[in-house]
Amino acid sequence: MKKLIIYSLFVFTIVVSIQAQVVTNLNLMPVPEKVKLNEGKFRVDESFSVSINGYSSDRLNSAVTRMVKRLTGRTTLFLKQDFLTPVFKTDSAKMIINVKREGELKINEDESYELDISENGITLKAETDLGAMHGLETLLQLLDADSESYFFPFVNISDKPRFTWRGLMIDVSRHFMPVDVIKRNLDAMAAVKLNVLHWHLTDDQGFRVESMVFPKLQQLGSDGLFYTQDQIKDIVKYAGDRGIRVVPEFDLPGHSTSWFVGYPELASAPGPYKIERGWGVFDPTFNPVIEETYQFFEKFFEEISALFPDAYIHIGGDENNGKQWNANPEIQDFMKAKNIPDNHTLQSYFNRRLAGILTKLNKKIMGWEEIVHPDMPKDIIAQCWRGEKSLTESVKLGMNVILSKGYYIDLNHITEDHYSVDPVPKDNSLTEDEVKRILGGEATMWAEFVWPENIDSRIWPRTAAIAERFWSPATVTDVDDMYRRLRTVDFRMEELGITDIKNYDMMLRRLTNNQDIVSLKTLVDLVEPVKNYQRKKLRDHTAFSPLTRTIDAAKPESMATRKFGKRIDKFLSSPDAENYNGLVNILSVWKNNEVQLAKIIQKAPALKEVEPLSQDLTFCANIAMEAIEIVYENKKASKDWVDSKMQELKDRKVPKAQVELVIIPVIMRLLNSISVQQ
Ligand code: ACM
Repeated sequence: MKKLIIYSLFVFTIVVSIQAQVVTNLNLMPVPEKVKLNEGKFRVDESFSVSINGYSSDRLNSAVTRMVKRLTGRTTLFLKQDFLTPVFKTDSAKMIINVKREGELKINEDESYELDISENGITLKAETDLGAMHGLETLLQLLDADSESYFFPFVNISDKPRFTWRGLMIDVSRHFMPVDVIKRNLDAMAAVKLNVLHWHLTDDQGFRVESMVFPKLQQLGSDGLFYTQDQIKDIVKYAGDRGIRVVPEFDLPGHSTSWFVGYPELASAPGPYKIERGWGVFDPTFNPVIEETYQFFEKFFEEISALFPDAYIHIGGDENNGKQWNANPEIQDFMKAKNIPDNHTLQSYFNRRLAGILTKLNKKIMGWEEIVHPDMPKDIIAQCWRGEKSLTESVKLGMNVILSKGYYIDLNHITEDHYSVDPVPKDNSLTEDEVKRILGGEATMWAEFVWPENIDSRIWPRTAAIAERFWSPATVTDVDDMYRRLRTVDFRMEELGITDIKNYDMMLRRLTNNQDIVSLKTLVDLVEPVKNYQRKKLRDHTAFSPLTRTIDAAKPESMATRKFGKRIDKFLSSPDAENYNGLVNILSVWKNNEVQLAKIIQKAPALKEVEPLSQDLTFCANIAMEAIEIVYENKKASKDWVDSKMQELKDRKVPKAQVELVIIPVIMRLLNSISVQQ
């Protein structure tokens, strides 16, 4: 009996530790499938060493060397360990890595790993080097410190991804992103176990790839901003070394103005064409009824497929408005002759011709959901961006899908919104096989309103939470814990060169005309850029417009507002002196900010547009101060007072300088919670 009790306690402890994975203070993101935290610390000292005892390769050696370099960087320890080389193998190393084989960059490859840290040392086991690389990232995320030294907690982790396709799309057409921007983002992707870079290389506003066969593509279609073939090979190798496949997108047949600047004869209406400077959906579209189009693509894709080793090429397919097709008599005659009833079917004809070309080159196609048509081959991947309907339709047609609807990070939604979207729809009526065809998802970084300076702040840290949605079990949904871990992830991204934190201060400094940024930061910390497609409606922009304004510096999610909301909730549930004084301190800073910032604006004309927002902050702080006083003193507010303040807050909710003061809804919530005298 006693034995049984001890045994039950033992089992209980293990189960609790697994269940408690999300509520430990570990900073793992994505949360592994199974974590067992044990008592004890593996202290990192100068004797730390690693040995790769199973399969090894240049890729794995370099990955381990990078991990050790990051470890020395964080701990400042002068390790005895040198660069990992194939000749160095020992059983006495502190960390032993055992891999069975090279992983292929393909769907459903084994990316699992097991990481064990105990008094005996660290062991990392994986079927493939891809799995081992994920394990190395987990190990670095486990690094912690106490007053004595840096350490890894004793832990046993068994991990594998929920979805095989975990992507980030980067649009380099609307604004070109130089090689270093792509590389630092590949490092950050690897850190959170993303494995697909979807590279949106062409659109109306720029053709970004060097073609030797059709050089006018980049010569006339890129403003000189394109990747040379050597740069492309370098990026593909860099990504592959980090376990990331690169899927290039050539958006066809619409979104294609830049192609026609050099080759107008391929469009469905006569030229001349020039590179598009505005944002939106434009008319120029490939002519699908002339053989010259397909002869061009045969040569073009033959050249291009040699640059991109991935099995898939993304052919775009979105938002073909059909205007050029409707207006072209030759196209209309062709449709009649072939019994093609509508533009969608004509596009499917075009896609099938492309599929024929790509199949000969040993490539499969993927595209935005518009490419889905019963006539299309089943081995395509559809990327759903408008809704669940197309996802369900595609898997029912036997096609593979990935989800992007809900992961549009260019729309400036808060992290929680993306985190709550699951690639597998809730309450679906899909069969098990159909669910299996949902391969995963992609965050999409459209680049109308980002450039190299602020793209990182739109991608990170929110995409780390999306990466968790793609990797971790569906049951990992604790929002507060996600935000807790996200903060640390954000700091760690800096180590990899991500600029979201440091460029914020730089951009504010430039806006202040190199004056003190404290008061501006207080304000901008509390605003968010307008969401969805509002920015386009509020002010005209072109590819040459500055992206250096307050809206461009402001982060998509105001963490200061989230914190303020939590403090308000805490105060309302426990209106004691401590919670009250904490709020008074914050609100006093906000109340006094306007005067400070006004002085800065005197010599910073770029900030004139935020003056009314600065006044709104004072106004909001005053109302909040009055409201918390009423609660703290256990008084009642008059209904008239509450109603009038509510109305004034509502008026101030309207965006100014295309940003929203997001503390307003929190203060409205506060007003809604106070007792009212009828
Ligand atoms: C898209 O957002 N047009 C795919």
